[in-house]
Amino acid sequence: MDVFKVSGNGPLHGRIQVSGAKNAALPILAATLLTDEPVRLRNVPDLSDMRSMLEILRHVGAETTQPESGTWEIRAENISHIAPYELVRKMRASVCLLGPLVARLGKAEVSIPGGCVIGPRPIDLHIKGLKKLNCQVEIANGYIYVDASDIRGGPIFLGGRSGSTVTGTANIVMAAVLAPGTTRLECAACEPEVVDLCRMLVKMGARIEGIGSPELTITGVEKLHGCEHSVIADRIEAGTFVIAGAITRGDVTVTGIAPQLLGAFLDKLEEAGLPMELGEDSIRVLPYEASLRPLDVITLPHPGYPTDLQAQLSALMTQTEGLSIITERIYPNRFMHVPELQRMGADIAIEGPSAIIKGASKLSGAPVMASDLRASAALILAAFAADGDTWIQRIYHLDRGYERFEQKLSAIGAKIERLSDTEMPKELLGE
Ligand code: EPZ
Repeated sequence: MDVFKVSGNGPLHGRIQVSGAKNAALPILAATLLTDEPVRLRNVPDLSDMRSMLEILRHVGAETTQPESGTWEIRAENISHIAPYELVRKMRASVCLLGPLVARLGKAEVSIPGGCVIGPRPIDLHIKGLKKLNCQVEIANGYIYVDASDIRGGPIFLGGRSGSTVTGTANIVMAAVLAPGTTRLECAACEPEVVDLCRMLVKMGARIEGIGSPELTITGVEKLHGCEHSVIADRIEAGTFVIAGAITRGDVTVTGIAPQLLGAFLDKLEEAGLPMELGEDSIRVLPYEASLRPLDVITLPHPGYPTDLQAQLSALMTQTEGLSIITERIYPNRFMHVPELQRMGADIAIEGPSAIIKGASKLSGAPVMASDLRASAALILAAFAADGDTWIQRIYHLDRGYERFEQKLSAIGAKIERLSDTEMPKELLGE
C-alpha cells in the first residue's frame, strides 16, 4: 500500500489550481441516468470515488467514454434498476443512484451504503423523502427496494437532527424531476454542490425554482434531454490548500476558486488575522509574522462553517497561540485526526462534540495513520509545520477526494513523496 513521506520544509510559495468538486460530480454522474440522451461532463476530477461511480453507471448499463482528461460522456439508453452491494459498499455516495433510478424506471434496488469512521451515515431522510413522493419503500437483506409506479409530487420536509442532508436533497430532487405534479422541498441543503446539480438538471429540462435556497419547488416534466455541464470547483480542496499556505506562513495563490463558495471559512480565517487577497477566481494567502488569533468555530450546514474543513482547521489551530474551540455539529465524532495530531505533539482535548486546542505546539514528525478523507489532509498539513519526517499510512483515504495531491503541493515547495509502505523504516510500520 502507498504511504506519504512528508518533511517540514518551510513556507510554501506559488500558485495551485483547484480541481472539480468531488461532492458535485458524484450526484451529477448519477443524474446522467435521468435521460437516454448523451450527457457531456467537464472538469470531472480523476479520483477513486469517481472511478467507483463510473463503474456503477456501467454496471447498470450506461455507456461511458472519456474524450479527453477530465471530460466524460455518459449515455444511459437501456439501464437496469439494480445497484449491487459489491459496488455500492465501496462508496456510500452511491446511495445517490436511488433518485435517478426511481425517476427513470419507476423502481430501484440499491444496496444500503456502509457507514464510515466519521460516524453512522443514516439514510432515513432519503427514505422519508421517497415515501413522501408516494413511493413504496422496503428494506430487506441489505437492500433498499423502491416501487415508484405511482410516484407523484408532494410537500416534503427533509430536515433531520443535524439539519439538512446534502445527498438526501440530491436524491429527492432527482426523484422528483420526472414525478407528476409539484414537489415543495423544505429544509433542502444549500451546499454549492447541490446548486450545481440543480443547475445541470435545469439544463436537462427540469423545472426547479428556489435553487440555492432551503425551499425548492420542483414541477415534474415528462422527459429530460442530454446536456453539457462543467462541474464546479472543489471548495474543500481549495480550503485545504489555503490552510497549507497558512500553516507554513507561505505565499500561496489558490486558483480556479470563487471566494464566495467559501464564505464562512474565509470569514473565520479573517477573524484569525490571516492576511489574504481575494480575486474573482482566486484566494491568495500572504506570509505573516505574529501568531494568528485562536478561534471558536461550530460546523453547520451551508452557509455555515463546512464540516469537511474542520479537521484541516484543527491542524492550523495547533500552531496558533491560545485556546481554540472547534465544535462538530454535523458528525459529532469526526475527530479521528486528533489522536494522530497528538502523536505529533499537538495539545488537544476532546470535550463531547468539541476539540479544545491549546497552541502553539511544536510538532515533530511521526508515523501516523490516515482514517478518513479529511483527517488524512489534516495530518499532511500538520506535517508541513512539523520538524522532521512524518510517514502517513493508508493514504488511499486521501486518493478518494484529492486529485494529484502530492504533485500539486510539491510544485509549490512541499516535501511530500508517495512511497510504498515497504520503503518505510521497519520500526515505523503501524499494525
Ligand atoms: C455529504 O455527505 C458529503 N458527501 C460529505 O462529504 C459532507 O461531510 C456532508 O455532506 C455534510 O456536508 C458527499 O456529498 C458525497 P448529510 P452526506 O446527509 O450527504 C445526518 C467528504 O469528506 N443524516 O448532509 O452523506 C447525517 O448523519 C464527505 O467529502 C441523517 O440523520 O451528509 C449527518 O449527521 C464526508 N439522516 C447530517 O445529517 C439522513 O438520511 C448531514 O449528513 C441523512 C443524513
